[in-house]
Amino acid sequence: MTTIRDVAKMAGVSVATVSRVINQINDVNKETENRVLRALRDLNYEPSTLSEGLGAEITATIAVILPDIVNPFFAELARAVEDTARAHRLTVIFCNSDDQGAKEKTYIEVLEMKTIDGILFASNILEGGAIDMMREKGIPFVLIDRAPKKGRCSVVRSKNAAGARMAVHHLIKGGCRKVAHIAGPQEFITARERQQGYLDVVGEADWFHPGLIVPGHFTIQGGKGAARALREHFPDVDGIFAGNDLMAVGALKALVRMGVNVPKEMALCGFDGVSVTEMTEPELTTIAQPIYEMGEAAVLELIKQMQGERGEDSVRELDVRLIERGSTRWRKE
Ligand code: RIB
Repeated sequence: MTTIRDVAKMAGVSVATVSRVINQINDVNKETENRVLRALRDLNYEPSTLSEGLGAEITATIAVILPDIVNPFFAELARAVEDTARAHRLTVIFCNSDDQGAKEKTYIEVLEMKTIDGILFASNILEGGAIDMMREKGIPFVLIDRAPKKGRCSVVRSKNAAGARMAVHHLIKGGCRKVAHIAGPQEFITARERQQGYLDVVGEADWFHPGLIVPGHFTIQGGKGAARALREHFPDVDGIFAGNDLMAVGALKALVRMGVNVPKEMALCGFDGVSVTEMTEPELTTIAQPIYEMGEAAVLELIKQMQGERGEDSVRELDVRLIERGSTRWRKE
C-alpha cells in the first residue's frame, strides 16, 4: 500500500509538506505543490481515513509508546507530548506496551500500516534490532527516558546518575550516617544509572554492604516491601534514596506504619518529581526530572526528522534538580 512517505520520497519533500498539500493548506509554493500532486497521482495515493475526518488543520499523526500509562511519570510526559504536538497541528496516538517487547513490535507494525508519520518511544526495549527495523521502514522516531546514550538514534533523557549522587549527598549532608538504596528494575537503564550514582557516593564507605541495595520494582508496593526489609536487616540505616517517587511513597507508608519518624529517624528522598510527592505527610524530597521539557524536546526533534531535517543523532541529557521537602528536613542533632 502506498504510504505518505512514498509520496514524499517521490516528490522530494517532507511528510509534513505532503500532508499540507493533501489538506490544502496553501503555504506550499506552486512548483512544490505540483510535484506533490504529480506524485500523489502517479502513486495513486489514498490519504489515511484518520486525517480525512479531522479536517484541514490536522496535517500528520504521531504515536507515543509508553511502558506504563498509570505511572504518573509517563502521564506527565504524555501531557507534555500532547500539548507540544497539538501546537504543531499533529494528532497523537498513545500506546501502552507494559514493558513487553512483543506488544511494542505489534504496535510498530500496526502503526506502520496506518502510515504513522513518527513514533516516540518512552519504553525501554527498543534494542538494536528494532532500531534497525525502524530505520529500514523509514519511520522517523525518537527515544525518550529509558534510552541508551549512544543508540544510533535521537534520544532525550535525564542525567540519572548525577541526580542519584545529588540525592545521596543531600541525605549525608543532612546528617545521615548510613544510607540505603531502593532500586528500580535493573533491566531499565534509568534504574541502573541511579543505582550506579548511589554506589559512586557510598560504595567505598566502611559501613557499605551490598544488602543495602534492595529492589523496589519502581512501584509503591515494592517500596513498602523494601523499607520493611531494610528495617529488619539494617536497623541502623537512617537514610533511604529511592530510585523513583512511587517507591519512595511506598517506603514512607511502610515506615510510618512501623512507627518510624520521617525524617528524624529515617530521611527519605525519591526521584522523578511527580506531583504525588506533594500529597504525602511529610511531603517527599525528590530529584525532579524535567518531564515536561523532555516531552517537548522529543516532539520538536521528531518534527525535525519528519520534515526531512534528520541531522546527526541528537542525544540530549537534561539536568535534574533537588526539591527539598519535609522528608529530609535537616534533623536536630
Ligand atoms: O517512575 C518510572 C520511572 O521509569 C521514572 O523514573 C522514569 O525515568 C522511568 O525510567
